Amino acid sequence: MNLTLRIWRQNGPSDRGKMVAYEVKDISPDASFLEMLDVLNERLILDGEDPVAFDHDCREGICGMCGMMINGVAHGPERATTTCQLHMRHFSDGDTIDVEPWRAAAFPVVKDLVVDRGAFDTIIGAGGYITAPTGAAPDAHATPVAKVDADAAFEAATCIGCGACVAACPNGSAMLFTAAKVAHLGLLPQGQPERDSRVLHMIEAHDAAGFGGCTNAGECTTVCPKGIPLTLIGRLNHDYRTAARR
Ligand code: SF4
Ligand code: FES
Repeated sequence: MNLTLRIWRQNGPSDRGKMVAYEVKDISPDASFLEMLDVLNERLILDGEDPVAFDHDCREGICGMCGMMINGVAHGPERATTTCQLHMRHFSDGDTIDVEPWRAAAFPVVKDLVVDRGAFDTIIGAGGYITAPTGAAPDAHATPVAKVDADAAFEAATCIGCGACVAACPNGSAMLFTAAKVAHLGLLPQGQPERDSRVLHMIEAHDAAGFGGCTNAGECTTVCPKGIPLTLIGRLNHDYRTAARR
């Protein structure tokens, strides 16, 4: 495949940045989107140019490091798919593809396609710890968990913290991410002692980091590579109201 890429180039946080066009040739349809960028970067390096900076780690859809706007859509055109798992066969030979970083006030651009998602760490840190006895591992059936709760907690825990939900949200809200993190502990018995303080502190950290509020636009769940459902935001609101009343 031969493609034209229009990629956001920005030297650092204070640089204005701009779209720059590149041609890439002989790309295999079986290459991933990141492998296609690797091909471009190898050529740029050989030509003595600055390669395009982008985040990645596992390239298996589990670490949450990769993420970019591809033709204006977070993680690109395939649903429930991270950028690293997106393959070039979903594009056509001759396509022009726009590639940009996440756009959100709370995710400042570090360079090119790399943004600082440290605000997510702050929200998780604000959630604190759980109270659990240490020592020998308890028997698996010592703390019964209803199957329906175990499944829901597991589903929430699959959030990989990629930030696509924020990038897609017209308000730059991180409510889907925060809801997933609040739910995966709040659904389990081990998460109950700090349940109220956890949700209050995480929402406080969310707002302080500059993320916007949720207005139920639903864009977040559409682009979420892990299919985190919007219902978790309803659950978060319920938890928050209950904790605030208490
Ligand atoms: S909720 Fe989905 S889109 Fe948002 S950070 Fe988690 S995995 Fe990424
Ligand atoms: S590189 Fe780890 S999820 Fe994409």
